[in-house]
Amino acid sequence: MLNWDEYHKEEAAPGASAGAHTAAAAAEPAVVEAAAAVPAEPEAAVVAPTAAQPAAIDPVLEAQASENVARAVAAVESLDVEAGLEDLEMGAARVSVDEKAMINCRADLNQLVPFKYDWAWQKYIDGCANHWMPQEINMTADVATWKNPEGLTDDERRIVMRNLGYFSTADSLVANNLVLAIYRLITNPECRQYLLRQAFEEAIHTHAYQYCIESLGMDEGEVFNMYREVPSVAKKAAWSISHTHELSDPNFNTGTMETDQTLLRNLIGFYAVTEGIFFYCGFTQILSMGRRNKMTGVAEQFQYILRDESMHLNFGIDVINQIKLENPHLWTEEFQQEVILMILEGTQLEIEYARDTMPRGVLGMNAAMMEEYLHFIANRRLSQLGLPEQFPGAQNPFPWMSEIMDLRKEKNFFETRVIEYQTGGALAWD
Ligand SMILES: [Fe+2]
Ligand SMILES: [Fe+2]
Repeated sequence: MLNWDEYHKEEAAPGASAGAHTAAAAAEPAVVEAAAAVPAEPEAAVVAPTAAQPAAIDPVLEAQASENVARAVAAVESLDVEAGLEDLEMGAARVSVDEKAMINCRADLNQLVPFKYDWAWQKYIDGCANHWMPQEINMTADVATWKNPEGLTDDERRIVMRNLGYFSTADSLVANNLVLAIYRLITNPECRQYLLRQAFEEAIHTHAYQYCIESLGMDEGEVFNMYREVPSVAKKAAWSISHTHELSDPNFNTGTMETDQTLLRNLIGFYAVTEGIFFYCGFTQILSMGRRNKMTGVAEQFQYILRDESMHLNFGIDVINQIKLENPHLWTEEFQQEVILMILEGTQLEIEYARDTMPRGVLGMNAAMMEEYLHFIANRRLSQLGLPEQFPGAQNPFPWMSEIMDLRKEKNFFETRVIEYQTGGALAWD
């Protein structure tokens, strides 16, 4: 909850009535806010010169100021409106739903409505309703467990370290791909609105991993460099990066069969594989730890992240399928075969990661069970993309993971505080 009390300090200043100031604060919040940011001399900074106390005016500064104002007025008068609107013509027809498209759209991208892609707007609303911050989660028990030599086994410590190592970099790769590669190529405002929300969520996730690493007093250099030093982590990161290179070139553009397919490859590489497969071994391991009442703060952070990630995945699948629908010529037999191989490569990399992070059975699971789970996940990703399952009959050995993904079914899972919550802060204007 925001506290407005500090904005009223100047009420005690001589010559300023409370009523008069309240009106001034409403009219000029930026000025008052700037004053509140200077605690050393709040009253001197806030009280404007009055008729009784005229401030000394430097004539040179005054002349410069009026010249600056005159130049600004002249610049605004000569502003070329059409140049600012790029390809748009003043007075052109308003954007209609039919003109909107997922890629290669020429319609104005600043007109959010009328909505065409309601599913994207709804996911933006749902993402905002799930807002959370890492500092809200109590890490005290985790610090005690981590620092106690008997708190965790070596295999359990390996799992915590490896996962913080992988995820601290992976979410940064995803965020960079969103902002530097795909944002400008997805050409409708509803999806862009969700992409902006997702980009902020990825920043929160990176923050959460850093918060865990810092709380537990880990060697930050070791954790943040795993993606360059630990092969099972490095391979996954390298695979993701290989799908962003071409698009992050500022000269890359869609509009041909080849470049449109490159964009689809990127979307599949990041949404279906990186966020849809590479996160699942680590999430399962950490959440299994939480279920056993170990590292419950870290597990709760991961639980919130998993909730966000399952929405990112679903958004990405919708984006890919909508592009297919609007551009069926891109989805050739050859391209479908390529996508199947991408999913299988991702699955193999995650299986290798499972073997590296679980050389022995731990937390009621082992690498073979994880392999079965990853086959199940791969089948799911393939069918979400309209492709044939490649691991017939694969079963889910961790049905509780599906439950955790919908937190409403698991209100008191870790017996911490309220898990299902909406954005807390609200402005009070009285
Ligand atoms: Fe994330
Ligand atoms: Fe994500």
